[in-house]
Parts: sequence; C-alpha cells; structure tokens
Amino acid sequence: MKKIHQSILKWYDKNGRKSLPWRILHEKFKIHAYKEDLEKLSKIDPAYAVYISEIMLQQTQVKSVLQNYYFQFLAKFPSILDLANSNEDEVLKAWQGLGYYTRARNLYQCALICKQKFNAKLPNDIKELQKLPGIGEYTAGAIACFGFLQNQSFVDANIKRVLSRFYALENPSLRELSQKAKDFLNINNSFEHNQALLDIGALVCLPKNAKCDICPLNLSCKAKNDYEKYTISKKIKYIEKKLQLLIIQKNDQFLLYKSKEKLYFNMYNFLEFQNEKNAKYLGEFKHSYTKYQIKVKVYFLKTKHFKCKDCLAFSFEELENLALSKLTLKTLELFKKSEYAI
Ligand code: ADE
Repeated sequence: MKKIHQSILKWYDKNGRKSLPWRILHEKFKIHAYKEDLEKLSKIDPAYAVYISEIMLQQTQVKSVLQNYYFQFLAKFPSILDLANSNEDEVLKAWQGLGYYTRARNLYQCALICKQKFNAKLPNDIKELQKLPGIGEYTAGAIACFGFLQNQSFVDANIKRVLSRFYALENPSLRELSQKAKDFLNINNSFEHNQALLDIGALVCLPKNAKCDICPLNLSCKAKNDYEKYTISKKIKYIEKKLQLLIIQKNDQFLLYKSKEKLYFNMYNFLEFQNEKNAKYLGEFKHSYTKYQIKVKVYFLKTKHFKCKDCLAFSFEELENLALSKLTLKTLELFKKSEYAI
C-alpha cells in the first residue's frame, strides 16, 4: 500500500490540478496558487470556500465554475454570515445559469442554520455537516478533508470508478466502496491523496478510453486489461417535452410569476400560452434541462387588460435583477430580437 500511496502522490505532484482555487486555501498549499487568486481569496474561511466549490462542482463542470461563478459568488458572499444575512432571491440571482437551483436554496438554508446554531461557521464534525440541507455523505467528507484538513475518505462518481476498477468490484454498494475508500486512504496526506483520486478519475481513469498506461495505480489495478467491465454506464433517458410560453407586456411592464414547481421553485417564469387571442408568435428554441429536452414556442401579447392572480409586473430593467433560469433568459432573448422589443 505504501508504494501505491507514493505513486499516487508523485503523479499528483507532476500532473495534479494543484492550483485550482479551492485547493490553495490552506497555508501549506498556497505555493501552488496564482497570485491573483490568492488576493481574491485572502479573507475567506477555507471551509466555507471549499463548501461553495463542492456544491457548485456537484453538477457543473470545473471550467464553467472557474470561469463564471466561483470568484463572483465569493465576492458577493464572502462568508457564511453574509450568505445568511442576504435573502433567497439574491442567492438565486448569483446562481443564475448554474442550474439545479435547489443547490442555491439549500446554501441559503444552510447558512441560516449555521448562523443560528454554529456561531456563523460550518461545523467541523462530519455528522453535523451531514445533517445540513444539501450536504450528503460525499460533500461532508470533502468539506471535512479539504476544508478542515481531517483524515476523511469519501466517494464521488470519479472515485467510485477508480476504486471499483482498482479492486475489481462489479456493482459495489456505496457501503462497500466507502469502506474501500477508508482502507485506501493515505492518512499521512489525506488532502493530496483525495485530490489526486479525483484527478485520476477525471483525467486518467476515464469511463471510456482509460489511460491505463500512464495511471499511477497501474501496477496493482485489478481491472487494467478489462476496465470497461467496471464502468457503471448511466444512460440518461431523455424525456421530450413541448412548452409554449407567453410574454405579456402590460403598460410597459412584463408579467411573471414565482414558480411553485420543484424544478424552478421560487424562480420567476413566464406564463404558459393558452391560445390567447391576439398573441403573436415570436419563434422557438430547444432547451435541455435535467432529463428534459424541451421544445419551446414563444408568444407575445401586448395588452392593457390581463388578469393574473399570482403574477408580478416588472419593467424591462427590473428583469435584469431577478433570478431567471436559462429557459427564461432564452425566452427573453427571442423577445429582444423581435420587432416588439423595447
Ligand atoms: N469535484 C469535486 N471536488 C473537486 C475538487 N476538489 N477538485 C476538482 N473537482 C472536484
């Protein structure tokens, strides 16, 4: 085991993504950081910054998180107290475009609980972390290890693939894998060991075309000649949907409602088109969201008399400050390009 651990750390030292901003928060890893990143993160609590990164990375690619969201979010909410003292609309707005908005609502709820119960800090106890909304076994382990520098193992989709192959486990239970991850942990350097496993999963031990020849686990891996057997292929079944939306302009304001559906809960949406007379067809676009592939047709109605009990009216400028889903933003884009745009 010692040899494998050494091989992993050596590989990480040469090939790991050591300068990712959520990996340079502790003193001893700052040597890997870009100067401008250090400046942006200098006043931020490491556990909090790790927490934000882990939630963003749950369903979003590293590149997108880096380019558009991570630093922006931390600049807006530099601490868990700032998050707790904001409101759900503001957090949703900062999350706009990232999708899976339950993550943003959970962040806000979690911040409120931490303010009340833990003196506006994240708890460093893994069991307490797991009780917080949106924090499961994996995320709690990652916060404990990367945020609080604890000797903790955990299993995400990448680590699952690496370990299933290394130990030649077909369809292992999470329990079995968690135990393997624990046995496999390098307690002399859990932080870099776990970061390395994430990187090996993301860069080397790929679902298809795994690069076994350059893998640091190569010598002892039980699946190296037959790795696809241990790949759990999750074929997503897409569900096709059709949606017709109606942009209503009433006296220079636009009517939207706060969604009560799970998918877009508490975000502002346009109404569904119900064959309203005089509505003009603006065009259509395609949109994918979770398991849905949606064909969206957009209509526009300018009217002085439209009754909608749950609607709120916004000027065009005010729309800029609302938390809007990509679906709503694309709908607005169609409108902006149309002859009816203001
Ligand atoms: N995905 C989840 N955690 C990560 C991390 N620490 N680095 C890169 N990708 C990740």
